[in-house]
Amino acid sequence: MKAVLCKEYGPPESLVIEEIASKPVGKGEVRVALHAAGVNFPDVLIIQGKYQFKPQMPFSPGGEAAGQISELGEGVTGYAIGDRVIVMCGWGGFADEIVIGADRVVKMPDSMDYATGAAFLMTYGTSHHALKQRANIKPGETLLVLGAAGGVGLAAVELGKVMGARVIAAASTDEKLALCRKFGADEVINYSHEKIRDRVKELTGGQGADVIYDAVGGDAFDEAIRCINWEGRLLVVGFASGRIPQLPVNLALLKGCQVVGVFWGDFTRRDPELHRQNLDEMMRWFDEGKLHPHVSAEYAMEDVASALNDMMQRKVQGKAVVKTR
Ligand SMILES: NC(=O)c1ccc[n+]([C@@H]2O[C@H](COP(=O)([O-])OP(=O)(O)OC[C@H]3O[C@@H](n4cnc5c(N)ncnc54)[C@H](OP(=O)(O)O)[C@@H]3O)[C@@H](O)[C@H]2O)c1
Repeated sequence: MKAVLCKEYGPPESLVIEEIASKPVGKGEVRVALHAAGVNFPDVLIIQGKYQFKPQMPFSPGGEAAGQISELGEGVTGYAIGDRVIVMCGWGGFADEIVIGADRVVKMPDSMDYATGAAFLMTYGTSHHALKQRANIKPGETLLVLGAAGGVGLAAVELGKVMGARVIAAASTDEKLALCRKFGADEVINYSHEKIRDRVKELTGGQGADVIYDAVGGDAFDEAIRCINWEGRLLVVGFASGRIPQLPVNLALLKGCQVVGVFWGDFTRRDPELHRQNLDEMMRWFDEGKLHPHVSAEYAMEDVASALNDMMQRKVQGKAVVKTR
């Protein structure tokens, strides 16, 4: 099999592509012939040894992928050879096949192609869980999304609209904000030259946002927490800016607000039943044409370093995908 390999921690340029031996399929596992893998922020963290998980070297990065089941291990039920599936692997997706527990794959709707499948679950799964279980967002509430044209951000914009919220999208360029409008954003803020706090107050009649979705951290968090509504919920999703912000907790007191952590990967392991219900709802919404995962760039396996660097340099809108076969 052909795989992108991390043999020592380093930047994307240190990744190599090699032919390696295929793994045998064990009890409860399936082999999936991978067609595409989604590019996500954690892929860059994991190859630098900065992520929660540190796989044994050498390993393939690539947290999610999509392909077709080519072999079933002993005891696997509910799947057949030829099934088209999304793979939630954490790592191992930047390769032309993977052997993985059957509990980490999900069947794809017929209407979904492999690139879309590879770009769907991490972002939509995170944002769906964040808005539904962590923020308990209600129709008519105002949702502010920071980094709104990024992977999880754009998913939050679209899901926020499906869940009935009024969505304010905040991003760094007008081009990115135009994309957010296409995905349903009611209002936009360009935070490279507009003050998040002032604009949100202006757009909400001085009230502030009920739910703030923050995958950026840093200065954006510092400003956003100051324009949260009474009993608002600020979702801590990630720190794409590179700075984990500090919260003066008197702000939580004064705003009567909650600062709520979101860790989708752990949620899927700790509450598989609720996770399954979330998946069913998202797949149904996709089939009904309510969700449109945005794949803005596709890269060959040989160009995996460019894919990761483009994401790090804020050039990707929605999601980038690596074609693995
Ligand atoms: N908690 C969870 O369960 C979970 C799950 C998935 C991802 N995450 C985290 O969420 C964050 C975003 O992930 P993603 O896949 O959506 O990434 P992404 O597609 O690269 O989006 C991140 C966005 O952050 C903004 N940004 C601001 N400063 C940045 C900087 N210095 N470098 C890069 N981007 C910057 C960019 O928008 P502008 O240019 O418009 O500012 C960019 O669109 C990451 O920290 C990731 O680890 C968390």
